Order: sequence, then structure tokens, then C-alpha cells
Amino acid sequence: MNKNVVVIGTHWGDEGKGKIVDLLTEKVAAVVRFQGGHNAGHTLVVEGVTTVLHLIPSGILRQGVRCLIGNGVVLSIPDLFAEIDKLEATGLAVTERLVVSFGCPLIMPYHIALDACRERRRGNQKIGTTGRGIGPAYEDKVARRGLRVQDLFNEQSLTFKLEELLDYHNFVLEKYFGSKAISVAECLAASAAYADRLKPLVGDVVAELGSLKAAGAKILFEGAQGALLDIDHGTYPFVTSSNTTAGAISSGCGVGPLDLDYILGITKAYTTRVGEGPFPTELLNETGQYLADKGHEFGSTTGRPRRCGWFDGYALKRVSQLNSLSAICLTKMDVLDGLDEISICVDYDHSVAEDPRPVYEVVPGWQETTAGVRTLAGLPANARDYLAKIEAVCGIPIDFVSTGPDREDTIVLKEIF
Ligand code: IMP
Repeated sequence: MNKNVVVIGTHWGDEGKGKIVDLLTEKVAAVVRFQGGHNAGHTLVVEGVTTVLHLIPSGILRQGVRCLIGNGVVLSIPDLFAEIDKLEATGLAVTERLVVSFGCPLIMPYHIALDACRERRRGNQKIGTTGRGIGPAYEDKVARRGLRVQDLFNEQSLTFKLEELLDYHNFVLEKYFGSKAISVAECLAASAAYADRLKPLVGDVVAELGSLKAAGAKILFEGAQGALLDIDHGTYPFVTSSNTTAGAISSGCGVGPLDLDYILGITKAYTTRVGEGPFPTELLNETGQYLADKGHEFGSTTGRPRRCGWFDGYALKRVSQLNSLSAICLTKMDVLDGLDEISICVDYDHSVAEDPRPVYEVVPGWQETTAGVRTLAGLPANARDYLAKIEAVCGIPIDFVSTGPDREDTIVLKEIF
């Protein structure tokens, strides 16, 4: 039986990871975030009530599950507390189960300002970031000048470090971008002001994971964004600034690669993307609009409309290799209901250099509804054939199918714990 399970997105994010993490956490002791920040938007629906999480691991809705934020996550403290307050207002006990690594890099006001200035300067070459300061915060980390959670607890040295950092970043903001300078006071208000409140949540996530392992506990690692947004393997430069693939788990929270037992890729029954960048199977026609409308395809962090297209099986094969995927979970199956025909991208034609063209196989659609179906036998025959085709094209089993937003609207084809 598997102990440590990984959930990651297979394309450009928004595959429905939050729902599956929440479903699987019934059996685990802890859920761990290891990369990204509050650029993520994980939507959970439990008994009709919707919760959107950005930073807090999706295990939080299950009583007793520990939620760990590893050192690979860039942390905006005001946003963390805004999320905690919102959850606690619903009666959920959050802080007693949450641990934040002392090594998380901090997202500061100058990172947000720089993100906005860079995007503005890029004009129509912009990345289409979430505007949360994610990229500039990771830059500071790699440049070895960034602030980390542990820096919050010595105000004198924090102020000194901030003065140095602002000397540098304000030069860029004012002289290069012609923008406004950021003050030390503004930065202290977004960080040190929360130090007392944060302190009890801060811990050594590596040691926590070590203790959980020693106790034989099951752990779930929750990826954010998707594999094609990976800084190294994604559609560079239209990517996020972290490694979103499973390899990031070791560096981003502190378990070695041999401790990962089962890696589940969450993939939509069609493909979507928010922000700019290549999207070979994008549908700029009424079918794309149909998928967008039926799938309510708006970003859960920024509210931006998502671009929609056919299922990209070629990309999934590559992503399967990059992540050692054990299986996939196909989500939003019901959005395809009512289509006469469905195309599956089985390959890319690379003969036109720079611009790969998708090679499609067309399969018949189905008119029946699959919404809320909870057994394989309950699916129409053509929907079952669609699943079999995807398995054959990608060479990977489908262990779960999601047929609606609620936790219970799921076909479980394999018990993984
Ligand atoms: P950043 O992560 O804010 O720097 O944005 C970089 C790219 O990643 C943009 O195309 C964003 O739309 C995309 N992105 C970041 N987080 C998510 C997410 O959680 N879901 C989908 N796209 C995301």
C-alpha cells in the first residue's frame, strides 16, 4: 500500500487538484505544499459549500489532518492570515494544524510592485502573471538576498536587511521603471507586524516530515499550478517561477525521491490555460467557447477567462515521463457531455519548426449526462471509450474520474491507500 502520495497538475494548472487532494486526505495524516505561493487557486466543494484556497494545503477541511507549508513555498504573510481568518470565520480550527517552514521566502510589497512593472514594460509580450509577486520573490531567493520567515523574529536585523534590499529594489523601481519607491515602514507592516501571530505556526517542516515517516503516517504532497508551467520543463518563458513537477518535492519540503510511492497527475478531460503563451490545442471557435461556458472556466485566483482546447495527450506523455506518473485522474468529464465528436491530440507535428501542430484523432461524443456519475458502469459507452483511448494514447492508467465539483462526484477505479 502507498504511504506517500503526490498530486500534481499535468498541463497549465486549474486541473482540479484541490478537489482530489481533499478527497484523498480522508486517509492521510498530513498534506504538504512544496512550491508556488498564493498564485494557486484550489477550489473545494463539500456538501455544496465552496471553499477556495490559495496557500493553505487542501487538507484543511478534514479535521485532524496536519497542513504543512514547506520551504519551497513563497509566502505572503498578509495573504496567509487573510486566508486563515476567512476559514476560521466558518468555524474551522486552522492554526492548531498548520505548520509554516522557517525557511519560506517572503513575498514583500516590492515584489508585487516589480511584478506589475515588469508586466507593464513587456507590453504585448507580457507573461500574464497573477500579479502576486511570485517571480520577483523567487528571484531574490536564488540571488541569495531574499528574506525568509525566520528573519521576522529579529526586528532590528530585519530593518537593516530591508534597508539594503530597498536600496536595490527602489533603484530599479524608480530609475528603471519610473515607478514609486516602497518604504521600510510599508514592508514592516506587511511582515514584522504579523511576527507575534506567525510565531506559533512556524516550525521545522523537514523534522515534522521525519517524525511522520517514523510513525508510519501517510502523507500527501500537493502540487500547485501544472507541469507545463514548470520553470525548467514548461513553455518558457510563459511559465511560473518554481519547479511545479514532482522533483521539486525533495527540495521544497524535505523528503527524498525514494519516499514517494504514488504520483497522480490531475488532468482535465479537455485542456485549459490562463495567461499568455503557447497552447497548441487551443480552440478559438465556438467549441472553445462552449467548453469555457460549460466548464465555468475563469481563474480562481484572478478571475481571468481561461483559454480552452482539446485534450493534449502528447503533452501528457511527456509530463508522465517528467514526473514518473503512476496514474492520472481525469476531471470535468461532464463538460464534454453533448458534443457530437471529440478530438484527442495524440502527437505534435514538428515539421513546422517553432510552431508544433497538434495531430488529432477524432472519437464520437455522447449525448447522455455524466454529471455526478459515481461508477464506471454508469458512464455512457462512448465516454468509457474516451477514457480507454486516453489511457492507450498516453500509456498510463486512469485511476480516478471526476464528474462534478463535489467531493462525492468521483469514480474511484483504484484504492490507492
Ligand atoms: P505567476 O505564477 O503569477 O508568476 O504567473 C506565471 C504564469 O503562471 C501565468 O501564466 C499565470 O497565469 C500562471 N499561473 C500561476 N499560478 C497559476 C495557477 O494556480 N493556475 C493556473 N495558472 C497559473
